[in-house]
Amino acid sequence: MGFDLPGLLAARRDQGYELHARHLNPQLPRMLHAIGFDRVYERGEGCYLYDRDGSRYLDYLSGFGVFGVGRNHPVVRRALHDVLDGGLADMAQFDCALLPGLLAEQLLAKAPGLDRVYFCNSGTEAVEAALKFARYATGRSRIVYCDRGYHGLTVGSLSVNGSAEFRRGFDPLLADTGIPLGSLDALEAELRKGDVAALIVEPIQGKGVQAAPPGFLTAARTMLHDHGALLICDEVQTGLGRTGRFFGYQHEAVIPDIISVAKALSGGFVPVGATLAKDWIFEKVYSSMDRVLVHDSTFGANASAMAAGLACLAVIEDEQLVSNAERTGKALQDALKDMAQDYELLADVRGRGLMLGLEFTKPRSLKLRAGWNMLQAARHGLFAQMVVVALFQQHHILTQVAGDHMEVIKLLPPLTIGDAEVKQFCDAFATVMDEAHRGTGLMWDFGRTLVKQAVIR
Ligand SMILES: Cc1ncc(COP(=O)(O)O)c(C=O)c1O
Repeated sequence: MGFDLPGLLAARRDQGYELHARHLNPQLPRMLHAIGFDRVYERGEGCYLYDRDGSRYLDYLSGFGVFGVGRNHPVVRRALHDVLDGGLADMAQFDCALLPGLLAEQLLAKAPGLDRVYFCNSGTEAVEAALKFARYATGRSRIVYCDRGYHGLTVGSLSVNGSAEFRRGFDPLLADTGIPLGSLDALEAELRKGDVAALIVEPIQGKGVQAAPPGFLTAARTMLHDHGALLICDEVQTGLGRTGRFFGYQHEAVIPDIISVAKALSGGFVPVGATLAKDWIFEKVYSSMDRVLVHDSTFGANASAMAAGLACLAVIEDEQLVSNAERTGKALQDALKDMAQDYELLADVRGRGLMLGLEFTKPRSLKLRAGWNMLQAARHGLFAQMVVVALFQQHHILTQVAGDHMEVIKLLPPLTIGDAEVKQFCDAFATVMDEAHRGTGLMWDFGRTLVKQAVIR
């Protein structure tokens, strides 16, 4: 039997949802049908997706942040073709291949003060390495994390997850402790106990899009070092230019001890992760030849991921995507902040660069209260879901609610967007907000459907 991928895709193009319902997580197709997101996408290019009917969708989700350079970037594709066509001696394992060395060299050049890199295959693995390295290097066991923090869903990363809904039912996890984001007092109280290896923190939290208050990372790092503990910045979502700096922590004059990187690093083509740390930490973990494989991953430094990573860094540089994220992000944020004055349901516009959160709140006017209360009685977060659905169905813009039980939507477009995509989003959002503030119409009808589903669940 030969293998013909295009033939296979053409022959079974309608069966994705059915196959998922039968063989994979059954809740995914159910959820997508319920909110009317059940499209069949066939192509992606730059900041757009195209469905099987040829309709175009503006992608303000970027595959949860992996398409920083946009979908199917030709430079990254070329690099991957070169890897395959070159028939490289990939993963010989007992060799020192060139590509991981080159990618490490380039990543470290973006993170002055950090010295070494461990490569793996995902964000959660990059975090697992960070947690293990911090524990081994300090000889202590406890990690402090921030409420609402999200660092992945394997057991170690889940132990530092700040949302009960992810943790519930998977206990016992590792003994770790949550503190409010930005609370130096709470951090100090934990550090005084003497058993803390590190604080792990996202410069901007993915859930809810809350940034650590200005100066927090710098003050926390000093406090952590005073108590013999380390600062881990999780840059899985904020890294690679997303916030208008190459790494999110670089909005402050602070050098963390360890950072975790993943998502956008390979341009969205190949799973990849990286843990960057100071030399002394690597020297401790890999302290003798006996310990050479004490933390390792079979696929970690594979040629496809490394080549895609190098190509992706070249694109970020050549297309000046970090400064583009800062500039377009500011334009988008300013435009949305202007709108907030006209819309009582829109409480806050926050974030940095092209990682923005829009938070909705209880309306003051009686006309809107009944609808809002109906949604809240069923489930906190349904209004935000209603906005996401309206943006998608009426305007073909893909966004997401920023977390469970949150009235916040998150904007995470490719860093390549320009003024046209900023305007397209703002015009659509204004139309959706106008309809929401009328208190009637299709959007509210759909809100009632969401309420029924929430009640049934
Ligand atoms: C900050 C952060 N850390 C870790 C992860 C986990 O990454 P992955 O899904 O690749 O395991 C995520 C994923 O969203 C993330 O946003």
